[in-house]
Amino acid sequence: MTEKIKIVGFTGSLRKNSYNLAALRAAAKLLPAEAELEILDLADLPFFNEDVEAVGVPEVVQRFKEKLAAADAVLLSTPEYNYSLPPVLKNALDWASRGGNPLANKPTAIMSASIGMFGGARAQLHLRQVLLRLNAAMVNQPEVFIANAAEKFAEDGTLTNERTQNSIKRLLNALLEKVQAQKNSP
Ligand SMILES: Cc1cc2nc3c(=O)[nH]c(=O)nc-3n(C[C@H](O)[C@H](O)[C@H](O)COP(=O)(O)O)c2cc1C
Repeated sequence: MTEKIKIVGFTGSLRKNSYNLAALRAAAKLLPAEAELEILDLADLPFFNEDVEAVGVPEVVQRFKEKLAAADAVLLSTPEYNYSLPPVLKNALDWASRGGNPLANKPTAIMSASIGMFGGARAQLHLRQVLLRLNAAMVNQPEVFIANAAEKFAEDGTLTNERTQNSIKRLLNALLEKVQAQKNSP
C-alpha cells in the first residue's frame, strides 16, 4: 500500500469553537482517500524571543517544526484580526522561519473564515506576504474566503454550506496537484 500524502494544518485561532478550526476539520473530511490531515494546536508555542532561542529552541517549538518538515503539504486557515493575521499564527510562522525553515518550497494552501462579509480577505493578503518571505510553494488559486461564517457552520462546527465545501475541495485538489508536481519533478 502506498503511503498517504501527509498534510498538516493549523490556524491562528485558539478558540474552542473557532470557525477556522472547524474549516480545517471540514477539510480533513473532504480530502480524498490518498491524503490525510493532522491539525496542530499552536496554544503551547511561547512568544518568539531571540534570547530564548539563543539558549535553546523550546521542545514544543522543535516538535512543531519537525511536524512541518515531515509533512508533504501545509493547510492554513486564518481568522482576520484587525485586517491582519492573528499574532498566534504570525508567531508560529516566525518560529518556523528560524534556523532551517521547513516551509521553504513546501506546498501550502490558505483559507480564511470570518464572521464579516469579506471572509478574512485582508488577513489572507498579509498571510500571503509572510509566506512569500518564507518561500512556501503557495497555491494561489482558488481563493477560499468563508464570509459570514456563522451562517456556514452548524452549532457543532459542521460545515453545512455546500458551496464552501466545494471551494475547499477545489483548494485541496490544487494543493495535492502541487504535491504531485513536486514529487514528479526531477
Ligand atoms: C481582536 C479581533 C479583531 C477582529 N477583527 C476583525 C477584522 O478585522 N475583520 C473581520 O472580518 N473580523 C474580525 N474579527 C471577528 C472575527 O472574524 C471573528 O471573531 C471570527 O470568529 C474569528 O475566527 P475564529 O472563529 O476562527 O476564532 C475580529 C475578532 C477579534 C477577536
